[in-house]
Amino acid sequence: MNLINRRKFLMLSGGVAGSVLLTRCTTSPALLLPIGQRTAIASTTSNNGLLEVALEARPSLINLGRQQAHLITYNGSIPGPRLEAKPGDRVRIRFTNKLSQPTNLHYHGLHIPPTENADNIFLSVPPNETLTYEFTLPQNHPAGTFYYHPHLHELVAEQVFGGLGGIFVVRGELDKIPEIEAAKEEFLFIKDFALDANGQIPTPGHIDLMQGREGNILTVNGQVNPGFSLVAGGLSRLRIVNASTSRFYRLQLENHPFFLIATDGGAIAEPVELSELLLSPGERAEVLVQGNRSPGQYRLLSLPYDRGGMGMMGGGMMGGMYHGNSRDSTQAPQVIATVTYQGANPTTLPQPQKLLPVESLPQPITTRRIEMSMSMGMGSGMGMQMAFLFNGKVFDMNRVDAAVKLGTVEDWELVNVDPDGMEHSFHLHTNPFQVVSRNGQPDPYRAWEDTLRVRANETVRIRIPFRDYPGKTVYHCHVLDHEDLGMMGMVEIQE
Ligand code: C2O
Ligand code: CU
Ligand code: CU
Repeated sequence: MNLINRRKFLMLSGGVAGSVLLTRCTTSPALLLPIGQRTAIASTTSNNGLLEVALEARPSLINLGRQQAHLITYNGSIPGPRLEAKPGDRVRIRFTNKLSQPTNLHYHGLHIPPTENADNIFLSVPPNETLTYEFTLPQNHPAGTFYYHPHLHELVAEQVFGGLGGIFVVRGELDKIPEIEAAKEEFLFIKDFALDANGQIPTPGHIDLMQGREGNILTVNGQVNPGFSLVAGGLSRLRIVNASTSRFYRLQLENHPFFLIATDGGAIAEPVELSELLLSPGERAEVLVQGNRSPGQYRLLSLPYDRGGMGMMGGGMMGGMYHGNSRDSTQAPQVIATVTYQGANPTTLPQPQKLLPVESLPQPITTRRIEMSMSMGMGSGMGMQMAFLFNGKVFDMNRVDAAVKLGTVEDWELVNVDPDGMEHSFHLHTNPFQVVSRNGQPDPYRAWEDTLRVRANETVRIRIPFRDYPGKTVYHCHVLDHEDLGMMGMVEIQE
């Protein structure tokens, strides 16, 4: 369908679906939103060991709820096409930049080289130029839900907030567990937007940059409150990506627990029951949901979450120009999707008992301490100068912050040192890690992560094996405004 037809279709179906909205449980009128018709995400799957796709970053007019939005997309849609490959596959992405500024591509969470034309964030693709990215997924790459997005330092927040991003799926062992294979698979790419009356993204103000820009339009797969169906008695596998620039999500599905089966880096050892799921920017998770309640409609909610940080501004200052920024989002739950039951309930699909064993890492050879903080001072002009720091420094392309040895394991102690500072979302490229402890408490389930939240005053110890790929790579805060304002460090993995 072309863009115009699709837009008409959405408007029509939105009206019809809206009239059948039922309210369950205690619904405040503010939570009532018409349920949008769902459109499938386009996908490209590897064939005979090769995933070949053309991606174009370009300005696009997108329908967000009732508004037409001037956004930027990959191939005209939000999210961009879902890319699916298997361990051992070759991936070739012919990338064209039709934006008015330079950009590039990053493959968040993939264990591939950080050099050459692979996951190299030091590359820059100027407007109207094409670059072919090419890499091979290792044979032992875990199955999981990964995330591609632009990564050009100082433009990352703006371009991700503008709409760029997509899901990269690696299919493998996890997908072959019979109960999981039988589950109905859904992808949820969660992203917030801010728009002015003309459908343009407003220029962020000082507070927006400090907190990280957020918008009051919450979308799943580029749609406002899409409907998902659950088969009664069935099992759904929700594969969730927090693709927001700065927003943290505390997700809850009314009357249904989540059974966590995978984190950033793939399967955990066995399902863990959760009443809610907290995802910081860039984080992913996979959960199973059982369709074992009475037929009806259940709302997927984004619950209030306070990630702190107003202390430094005196606390009395209200949020920036984006209504619905983190200050407002601490106020009330918001509906982001609606789940509807279909069919009768003949049998109940079983949950898997065991998933996949999580490798136990050897003891580290080194422990590093990485402090996270922000600084604020008077700038040269009228404005205040704000910076986000690792160990007191802003990112410098010409400085190596951590020289590590290929083939070794290190522990990193991530310390959020601002006493009433804000929460950060720590992310490392190239190699996933395991969380050893949070404030000295051992991690409840061992899992592979690449992005994790660190609250004010918290110390999180992670264990990282540096494997397979030498070269320079980075770690940074995934509140992308913080990254652009300096909160990034360079790792050099030396042979
Ligand atoms: Cu999702 Cu360095 O990024
Ligand atoms: Cu990344
Ligand atoms: Cu941060």
